[in-house]
Amino acid sequence: MQGQSGSGPIGVFDSGYGGLTILKEFQNRLPDYDYIYLGDNARAPYGSRSFDIVYRFTLEAVNELFARGCPLVILACNTASAKALRTIQQNDLPSIDPSRRVLGVIRPTVESLPGRTRNGHVGLVGTPGTVGSRSYDIEISKLYPDIKFSSHSCPMWVPLVENGEADKPGADYFVRQETEALMREDDAIDAIILGCTHYPLLMNKIRQYLPPSVALIKQGDIVAESLADYLRRHPEMKRRLSCGAATEYLTTEDADKFSSMASIFLNRQIKAEQITL
Ligand code: DGL
Repeated sequence: MQGQSGSGPIGVFDSGYGGLTILKEFQNRLPDYDYIYLGDNARAPYGSRSFDIVYRFTLEAVNELFARGCPLVILACNTASAKALRTIQQNDLPSIDPSRRVLGVIRPTVESLPGRTRNGHVGLVGTPGTVGSRSYDIEISKLYPDIKFSSHSCPMWVPLVENGEADKPGADYFVRQETEALMREDDAIDAIILGCTHYPLLMNKIRQYLPPSVALIKQGDIVAESLADYLRRHPEMKRRLSCGAATEYLTTEDADKFSSMASIFLNRQIKAEQITL
C-alpha cells in the first residue's frame, strides 16, 4: 500500500490483538491517514519472553512494515516498547534508514500522568516483561520523582484476552487476584496505568475489584493525542504519510480467526491477511 509520491501508511505493531485498542483511537483522532496493523498472533504472547526474543521478533515486524512502505511505525505494545524500542532506535534505525521513525507507548503514557492522580500514588499493571524491565519506574522517576509508584505483573491477562475469555466468568479469578495484589502494595493508589494494550478489554472486570475513587488510565487516547502532537511538531514526517483513510490488517496467524477477534476490539467487521515474518 505505497501511497503517492513515495508516501506510505503509519505502521502499528503489537504481539497480537492488543494494539487494536491503540489503532482504534488513531483512526478516531487521525482518520485521514492510512494504517497497516500487524499482529504477531502466531508468537503471542510476548509478555514472558526474554529481552533477546522480544527484540528479535519486534525488529522483524518493524522491517516488514518498513518493506511495506511505512515511514513511521508505532509499537502499540508495552512489552515491545519496554524491551526492543531503545535498541531499535539507537542501533538499528541508523543503518536501516535514519529518516524513518519507530515510537512506543510508554513515554507518552508517563507524560500524561499529571492531572490523572490527585495524591501522587500511581500503580501499574502490565506483563511480566513490561514490569520486570522497570521501564515505567525509570521514566516516572526521571520525569516525576515525587510520584510514589508501585507495579504488579499479570501473566494470565494477555492469554485470557488472546483466547477470547476476557468477558467470561473464569477471567474474574485472575483479575481479582492481580488487582488486589497491586492495591496491597500501596492502598493509597488513586490511579492505575493499564500498561498493556490488551487490558482495556478487561476494564469492566478490573473496575469491579477497585474502590470507585481509583482512576484507570487507558493508553489509546493518550497515545493518539501524542501522535497528533508528534506530527504537528514534525511536518517532514507528516508530509511522508499517505492519506487515503484506509487500514490494512496483517496477522501471522489464521486470517479468519484474526478478523473475527479484531471485530470485537474494533466494534466493526474487518478483513485480515495472513503473512509470514
Ligand atoms: N499488548 C502487549 C503489551 O502491551 C501484550 C504483550 C504480550 O504479548 O504479552 O504489552
